[in-house]
Amino acid sequence: MPDAGQRLELCSTDEVAPGTALKVEIEGLILAVFNIGGEFYVIDDCCTHGPGSLSEGYIEDDVVECNFHNGQFNIRTGEVVAPPCMVPVKTYPTMVIDGKVTIEVD
Ligand code: FES
Repeated sequence: MPDAGQRLELCSTDEVAPGTALKVEIEGLILAVFNIGGEFYVIDDCCTHGPGSLSEGYIEDDVVECNFHNGQFNIRTGEVVAPPCMVPVKTYPTMVIDGKVTIEVD
């Protein structure tokens, strides 16, 4: 696992088109990188309800719908938008640096 406060470089911004997501595995983390209208957000890829992969979910504006049981999360905040999910998904402070999407690990 990465050290707290470490900044990880996940991908180039041009690898994630607006309205899509990319799954990135790095340092033991499995993450989903989203591009919402040119703003980048990173959350854990694994749904908090089960084995769904949120990078493969259906994206509408800033909400992603898990393709397993159709639970929904707000991509910006990680909050649950629709059941059966109950637990928010973890979000990561995200910053674009020199065309790369980076996160800070806490
Ligand atoms: S695994 Fe995602 S809603 Fe059930």
